[in-house]
Amino acid sequence: MSVISGKKILLGVTAGIAAYKTAFLVRLFIKAGAQVKVVMTPAAKEFVTPLTLSTLSKNEVISSFTKEEDHSNQWNNHVELGLWADLMLIAPATANTLSKMAKGHSDNFLLATYLSSKCPVYFAPAMDLDMYRHPSTRENFDILTSFGNTMIPATSGELASGLSGEGRMAEPEDILKFIEDHIAESLPLRNKKVLITAGPTYEAIDPVRFIGNHSSGKMGFELAAAARSLGAEVILISGPTHLQNPNEEINLIRVQSAVDMFEAATKFFPEVDIAIASAAVSDYRPKLSATQKIKKSAETMMLELVKNPDILASLGEAKKHQILVGFALETENEEENAAGKLQRKNLDFIVLNSLNDSGAGFKSETNKIKILFKDGKTKGFQIKSKTEVAGDILNEIILLSNE
Ligand code: C5P
Repeated sequence: MSVISGKKILLGVTAGIAAYKTAFLVRLFIKAGAQVKVVMTPAAKEFVTPLTLSTLSKNEVISSFTKEEDHSNQWNNHVELGLWADLMLIAPATANTLSKMAKGHSDNFLLATYLSSKCPVYFAPAMDLDMYRHPSTRENFDILTSFGNTMIPATSGELASGLSGEGRMAEPEDILKFIEDHIAESLPLRNKKVLITAGPTYEAIDPVRFIGNHSSGKMGFELAAAARSLGAEVILISGPTHLQNPNEEINLIRVQSAVDMFEAATKFFPEVDIAIASAAVSDYRPKLSATQKIKKSAETMMLELVKNPDILASLGEAKKHQILVGFALETENEEENAAGKLQRKNLDFIVLNSLNDSGAGFKSETNKIKILFKDGKTKGFQIKSKTEVAGDILNEIILLSNE
């Protein structure tokens, strides 16, 4: 899955012949799973039609401050659009627009949107070779780079003037690759390996029956998706759930029982940097699992149970450089019990969710957590979606790993 999947991309098109290539660029962004909105300078419409770009981007293309076509006296909100974007790309970026961007001019909708945006901005220059080489153009590149904007350099080749040299806009595939690599390099969990346990475990009584629990696995799957999107290599070991792998780049290992989960987790643990145990592991399993379905006979039936291995405690014992995080779902003496587990299992922090809070716990879409750190500090959070909670937890891990 591309790192731009789900991102909101604002493409600013200015008046260079390379504008015709933005049709391909929009297609590539959409195919990579991004949302795209296009703004154009008025002159850019001479090179590629707004209809082409609105059809491909599935969004209205804006090129002026007012909605002139419908005479509605309404204005297009450049501030809203600038804030909507996760990233902005000006491609092709002409010498004229780059100069105006460098000086803070705002005499068209694209420039006003650029000035309003708070997101990372990329620009892909396209111009004739002498314009590209000109000291004023070079100075504008430097000024824009000093603002934190990122230049996607032009390449050499045949130019619209008939001359040959540097100044051709980078090809759409190369622009996409440049942006993907640039984002990937800046992700906080790049080069990190994360192990996550998720879901319930099923402890077989016989071939058709088991001891299980109500865990849906949602929290663990959200953690895995979030860790992946922050650049980590993710191994997700999950007990039985109906959830699909959220990202094909996540190594999802499906297991049934606590013993299976234990084997998988202890195998991978030495090679990871971070481990998060969010699985609701069954504490006991039947001593014997019948090979045939148990027949109904006596009025009562005894099931002898034996203790399962404590996966997290074993990881805590084996821990060397790893950051280790556990979960505690408590119904009474919450903080005290969670703090006990934090110590016993040798964790860096424990995430406490209480069954006493409505909207927290097993099957809900939301969770309300409190984090207890090993140095005794605690941090409470509001009730949030599990996606946001996953972000909060990983944020704490990133802070710890930067210490
Ligand atoms: O079950 P308990 O409340 O002790 O769970 C606390 C933490 O330990 C959780 O993070 C859970 O995933 C983990 N755990 C485990 N193996 C077990 C029991 C719990 O990894 N057998």
